Amino acid sequence: MKAAVFSTFGEPAEVLDVREVPVPKPGAGQVRVRMIASPINPSDTMVVEGRYGVLPTLPATPGFEGVGVVEEAGPGLMGRFVVGKRVVVINNKGGNWAEYAVVPWKQARPIPDDIPDEQAATFFVNPATALAMVRHVLKVPKGEWLLLSAAGSTLGKMIIKLGRHDGFKTLCVVRRSEAKQELIDLGADAVISSSEGPVPEQVRRVTGDAGPKYALDPIGGEAGTAIFRSLGPGGRLIVYGSLTGEPIEVDPRSLISTRTSVEGFWLGHWMAERSIPSALLLFREIAALIREGVLSADIGRTYPLAQVCDAVREAAQVGRGGKVLLRMSGSQSPSAS
Ligand SMILES: NC(=O)c1ccc[n+]([C@@H]2O[C@H](COP(=O)([O-])OP(=O)(O)OC[C@H]3O[C@@H](n4cnc5c(N)ncnc54)[C@H](OP(=O)(O)O)[C@@H]3O)[C@@H](O)[C@H]2O)c1
Repeated sequence: MKAAVFSTFGEPAEVLDVREVPVPKPGAGQVRVRMIASPINPSDTMVVEGRYGVLPTLPATPGFEGVGVVEEAGPGLMGRFVVGKRVVVINNKGGNWAEYAVVPWKQARPIPDDIPDEQAATFFVNPATALAMVRHVLKVPKGEWLLLSAAGSTLGKMIIKLGRHDGFKTLCVVRRSEAKQELIDLGADAVISSSEGPVPEQVRRVTGDAGPKYALDPIGGEAGTAIFRSLGPGGRLIVYGSLTGEPIEVDPRSLISTRTSVEGFWLGHWMAERSIPSALLLFREIAALIREGVLSADIGRTYPLAQVCDAVREAAQVGRGGKVLLRMSGSQSPSAS
């Protein structure tokens, strides 16, 4: 089969190439999935760059999520129930940027027919993270401000729509002024650009001196520091990414005197603490909210697997727009969805 492979960590467009590799065999409790499509998420490219929390042994194939059809089950009863089904492929070891992937049967979740391949490919990582952080960890109450940076990201747009749906207010930070209007049109309550002046001052103009009690940042560095400094007394910041790879500066006096706090979030850890019924419930909740358009991803260009280097270049573009997908079979040239 064909797979995107990297043998050294580095710039994705330079170290990835598409090679013939053996088709993987499912072991006990595993299934083999013929992959249809997989998105290019920041976590995938950070693995290739060698700057993610957990790194594979090389050579390796990236790809944590996607959609495919189960073709074969390894020894064991449960896997047989999903053979022939279209499934969301949650591959926490990576490996979905290939024609076939092998995962434990529990991580190949059948997906209702009315959810199209593009949405099924991006079903889990961003929607589950949005719901977990907003509804389960921060539990943002109706009417409160939620401050979020990188608000034009696929995940940021889901949170804006979730704010409309759940009744909390979104105060969105972007790095480019031209990105503001799209988020206002999507339903953001306020949008500011870090290019237009210090973020804490702009935030105060929106919220008044009380400041926001809830904030999310996936950027780190100066941008993450500005989000932390924008919190009101007792405010909580969840850090869930490190797009800059740089540290956030936290003044210990503000932790003490204003009771602000910073905590990390990683979906892998959070899911590991969920029971099977609560994971199933989460899955149903996501499907329902995708149907309503709340957790549906904004999809950008689709590339065939053979053009993985063009696809990762496109995914890294500033102001790129929708999520870039890899299609494992079908069209041979990039297409806009
Ligand atoms: N912790 C977890 O479990 C978890 C789970 C899911 C996602 N995440 C994280 O969530 C974040 C968003 O994911 P996604 O799939 O929604 O990403 P995405 O669609 O690729 O969007 C990335 C966004 O980040 C912005 N950005 C990139 N570098 C930036 C920088 N240096 N300064 C300011 N803005 C920057 C881009 O802004 P422009 O529009 O201006 O280019 C773009 O809007 C990523 O960091 C990802 O790793 C974490």
